[in-house]
Amino acid sequence: MKKIALILLCIYNFSYAVEYDEIEAEMLAVSCTSCHGINEETQSVAPVLAGMPKDSLYEILLNYKNGKKTGTMMKEHVKDYTDEQLEQIAYFFSNIEKD
Ligand code: HEC
Repeated sequence: MKKIALILLCIYNFSYAVEYDEIEAEMLAVSCTSCHGINEETQSVAPVLAGMPKDSLYEILLNYKNGKKTGTMMKEHVKDYTDEQLEQIAYFFSNIEKD
């Protein structure tokens, strides 16, 4: 029974993308820009996120959160966001021009 619930949960998570909320997304993404900048011009210590495809960015963030992807500090930064919030953040950066 538990397995079925888990499978249903996965299907639910993957088939319904959250609707992009520009204001919420920007507020959530501000905490990332101190290290990542907004675009190439404002890039700081971390790779530029602007213009990354939304789905791959979202997947990377989920992988950091569930420990599939490791790094120096990203796990700490994504752990308190819900999956929906990470998707909003992914929308935000994918909608920004790289330069
Ligand atoms: C304290 C600095 C810092 C903050 C804040 C930060 N990051 Fe990072 N991020 C890094 C560093 C450094 C890396 C390079 C990989 C590593 O060392 O973990 C990275 C890597 C990444 C990557 C992988 C890029 C690639 O090309 O593989 C993504 C995606 C990412 N961060 C997204 C975010 C998002 C979204 C936020 C906000 C929720 C965020 N980061 C907040 C420092 C930061």
